[in-house]
Amino acid sequence: MKNVLQYIEANRDRYLSELTELIAIPSISTNPENKKDIQRCAEWMSKHLTSIGMEHAEIFPTAGHPVVYADWLHAPGAPTVLIYGHYDVQPVDPIDLWTSPPFKATIRNGNLYARGSADDKGQVFIHLKSIEAFLKNTGKLPINIKMLLEGEEEIGSEHLDPFIREHKKRLKADLVMVSDTSMFARGVPSVCYGLRGLAYMQIDLIGPNKDLHSGSYGGSVHNPIQALSEIVASLHDKNGRVTIPGFYDDVRSLTKKERDAFKKLPWSDKKYAKELGVKALYGERGFTTLERLWARPTLECNGIWGGFTGEGAKTVLPSAASAKISMRLVPDQSADKVAKLFQKHIDRIAPNTVQVKARYLHGGEAALTPIDSPGVKAAVAALEKGFGKKPLYQREGGSIPIVVQFKRVLGLDTVLLGFGLPDENAHAPDEHIALENYFGGIRSVAHFYQALADL
Ligand code: BES
Ligand code: ZN
Repeated sequence: MKNVLQYIEANRDRYLSELTELIAIPSISTNPENKKDIQRCAEWMSKHLTSIGMEHAEIFPTAGHPVVYADWLHAPGAPTVLIYGHYDVQPVDPIDLWTSPPFKATIRNGNLYARGSADDKGQVFIHLKSIEAFLKNTGKLPINIKMLLEGEEEIGSEHLDPFIREHKKRLKADLVMVSDTSMFARGVPSVCYGLRGLAYMQIDLIGPNKDLHSGSYGGSVHNPIQALSEIVASLHDKNGRVTIPGFYDDVRSLTKKERDAFKKLPWSDKKYAKELGVKALYGERGFTTLERLWARPTLECNGIWGGFTGEGAKTVLPSAASAKISMRLVPDQSADKVAKLFQKHIDRIAPNTVQVKARYLHGGEAALTPIDSPGVKAAVAALEKGFGKKPLYQREGGSIPIVVQFKRVLGLDTVLLGFGLPDENAHAPDEHIALENYFGGIRSVAHFYQALADL
C-alpha cells in the first residue's frame, strides 16, 4: 500500500492534466447537439480504461447514449466490486456566471473549476487513478473490479435499466460502489447510505387559441399563466406539506434512532441559511432541515414559463403556459404511483377555463444501504485512513435512479462514497472539486479496495 500511495503523490500533476482532458469534452447528455461529444467521451473513457490496465473495455450502444464497460478479474477468492459512475454532465447555462470557461479546467484557491469536476467525471477519475496506482505499481488489484459508466445519468438513466437486465451475468458482483455524492462538509468525510427518488412532471396549459391583446381581451378569458400559478401555488399548504391526496401514504417514517443520529450531526440552520443568502428556511413543518432534505418527500417547481419575458414591456394575454415540476421521493414511495397521483390531482383541480395536461417525464425510486453491510464497514475504515478522520453516516437529498435497480435486478447493495462538497455548485455555474478531496478520494479508494480484500 505504501508504494501505491507514493505513486499517487508522485503523479499528482498528471492526475490533474488527464482529468483536464476528460473535462474538455462537453458531454452534455440532454443537448442533442452534443451527441457527438457524448460518443467522443465514451471513446475517451474506454481508451483510458485500457491505458491504466483495465481489460475488455467496450462501448455498448443503446437507444440513447452509450454505456462503457471494462473489468479486471484476476483476484481469485477476493470480492468483486461493480463501480458505477457517469460521464455525462449537466448543461452550463447561465454561461455568463462562470468565472472561467466551463470546459476548461482551471485551478483557483485549491479547487479545480469545471463542469463535471465533481459531478461526476472527477469522482469517476478518483477510481481510475486509484486503479492505475495499483496496476502500474504492483501489476495487480487486491479485488476484482467491473467498471460501468453511463452517459444518461443526468437525464434519468432510461437505457441503463434495460442494459443491466440484459447483462446480469456480466455485471455479477458482490457489491456496487458509487462515488457521485458529497462529503458532509469540508474536512468531514462521510459514508452516504440513502438517496431520494424522483418523479419529474411537466404541466402544459392552453387557454385561447392564440396570443391576445391584453387590453382588448383582458377580463374575458382566464390567463393560462394565472391559472398555472394558481395550480402551482395550491400544491403546498400553509405547513409546507404537499397537497396531492395520497402523496404521503407510502412514506416510511423515520425511526427514533435515525432522528437522534441526524440530530447529533454538526449542523446549524443559521449558518446554512446565511450561506444560501435566505432570511429564513422553508419546509414541511414538524421536521428538521436534515430530515426534510434526506428523508421527507418534496415537490419543487423547476421552471415556469409563458407569455412575454423579453426586455421592456409588451402587453399580451398569452395562449399558453407551462411548468416543470419534480417530486423527490423517499422509501417506500413508488415513482410511477406518485406520478399518477399527481396527474389525477391536476385533472381534478384544473379549471374548465383552460386545457391542462400533466406529463410524466421520468422517475426513479429512493435507495437505502444497510449501514452494517461489509461494504459500508470497509468504506468507513478506508475514509479514516485516507482522510485521517472518522467519517460520519449521512443520507442525501439527490437521486441516482439506477442504485435501486442494482438492488432489484442484481440483488446488490450500493456503497456511496462521495468526495464532492455540498457547496461545490453541482448543476450550477462555477462547479468545482477541492483538490484535497480529489487526492484524498484517490487515497481513500485505494484503502477501500484493500479493506474489501481484507474483510
Ligand atoms: N450526483 C448527483 C446525485 C446527487 C445529488 C447526490 C446531490 C447527492 C446529492 C447526480 O448526478 C444527479 O444530479 N442526479 C439527478 C438525477 C435525476 C436527473 C434523475 C438529480 O438528483 O437531480
Ligand atoms: Zn452525478
